[in-house]
Amino acid sequence: MKFILKDGRIINIVPFNPQIPASEFLRFINRLIDEDIYIMHNTRYVLSQEIKWKRDKLAAIKKNNCVGLAALYGRRVIASLEARREPGNLSDNVSCGVAIAKGFRGFGLGEKMLRMLISLAKEKLHPKNIYLTVIADNTPAIALYKKVGFTKIIGRYPNWFKHKGKYIDSLTLLLVEK
Ligand SMILES: CC(C)(COP(=O)(O)OP(=O)(O)OC[C@H]1O[C@@H](n2cnc3c(N)ncnc32)[C@H](O)[C@@H]1OP(=O)(O)O)[C@@H](O)C(=O)NCCC(=O)NCCS
Repeated sequence: MKFILKDGRIINIVPFNPQIPASEFLRFINRLIDEDIYIMHNTRYVLSQEIKWKRDKLAAIKKNNCVGLAALYGRRVIASLEARREPGNLSDNVSCGVAIAKGFRGFGLGEKMLRMLISLAKEKLHPKNIYLTVIADNTPAIALYKKVGFTKIIGRYPNWFKHKGKYIDSLTLLLVEK
């Protein structure tokens, strides 16, 4: 679907699909890693790893263990979101991940896509719980998550995330239905 950013740029939001080249996701993730922001990954990936990641993710989607969305600006991947089921007896718990490329943040895309992801996850994965983890210093992300309904803090791991030599708490937030 077409989505118009607050600055007028037109973005195409699509389900994660085999037609998007692994090289585009590679460029996207490596740019986030180079930014050194609040994400778990800290080592650049190479194409072979990204091809495997894409294959595994498509397999998980096929098995109804995962749903994913991407946003394209032209051919360029500028956002990637997923909701993924935990294994075994935890499988009714679904965790979400969200990332928007630099230059495309603050224009409404994260909110639009996270709301879409939640709807898709409910429809396809029928979870008991939808949650996510976020670093306690990540003010924009926490504001977004609260706005869409992740209002209950169900976990705090103290000094969990190392960022620029400093240890920061990690929070687990639960989606609370209104
Ligand atoms: C966090 C992130 C996903 C937000 O996406 P976004 O597209 O920039 O957010 P939106 O423009 O849709 O904003 C939606 C809401 O989020 C909050 N928000 C977004 N940017 C913010 C900022 N810089 N400061 C405070 N709140 C902010 C606001 O509540 C905003 O609603 P409002 O416009 O009514 O004020 C995006 O900044 C991002 O990808 N950051 C880098 C990766 C990352 O940190 N991912 C999360 C890891 S847990």
